[in-house]
Amino acid sequence: MQDDLSVRDATADDLPATASIIATHAGGTVDEWHTRFAEVLADPARLFIVAEADGAVVGFGQARFVASRDSSGGSTAPGGWYLSGVTVASGYRRRGVGRRLTEARLERLEGQVVYYAAAPENAGTIALHERLGFIPSGSVTLAGQHEALLLFRREPAMADVRARGAAGVNRMISP
Ligand SMILES: CC(C)(COP(=O)(O)OP(=O)(O)OC[C@H]1O[C@@H](n2cnc3c(N)ncnc32)[C@H](O)[C@@H]1OP(=O)(O)O)[C@@H](O)C(=O)NCCC(=O)NCCS
Repeated sequence: MQDDLSVRDATADDLPATASIIATHAGGTVDEWHTRFAEVLADPARLFIVAEADGAVVGFGQARFVASRDSSGGSTAPGGWYLSGVTVASGYRRRGVGRRLTEARLERLEGQVVYYAAAPENAGTIALHERLGFIPSGSVTLAGQHEALLLFRREPAMADVRARGAAGVNRMISP
């Protein structure tokens, strides 16, 4: 486990570091990712969480709300909250950073059904999410993508649902 690990909401100051981490992992330029992540930060239907260790941002995770009626771009995704984009800088993997980022987003979405989609070959991220209660739920095609992804679903604990009540749930699903 990484010492000195903390998670918090992203701010504009985190855009250079998170854009650099994703550009290193997925390609594209830091500038392109900076622009895309600035849009994520400004979108009230998204969560954007960063992990800090050793005085630097070492990973991030996002979540977004997909409306059930939204079939734009060829999406077959059921409506609801989707975790997305969890990425940890290569030198910090297997130290619990991805797990903390995922737990933090689930805490923010407490009481909700939460989805997650992954490429079948991405065994690491699938293992991470299954350890946190996600179960296989068929496959899905997301907007703008051609490849079908495996879909995972996590039910809220009944205690969470009772604690939040219907008003709390409605507030979260109406971004
Ligand atoms: C997937 C990713 C976010 C995991 O982050 P991480 O900080 O290394 O994960 P953690 O250390 O919190 O791992 C928690 C658990 O997940 C599972 N896990 C994580 N990475 C794994 C891997 N490469 N292989 C198998 N299991 C893995 C393990 O069960 C692990 O627990 P353990 O270390 O006690 O065995 C990281 O590997 C990454 O950034 N990958 C590239 C980006 C990516 O593919 N993101 C997913 C996009 S859908």
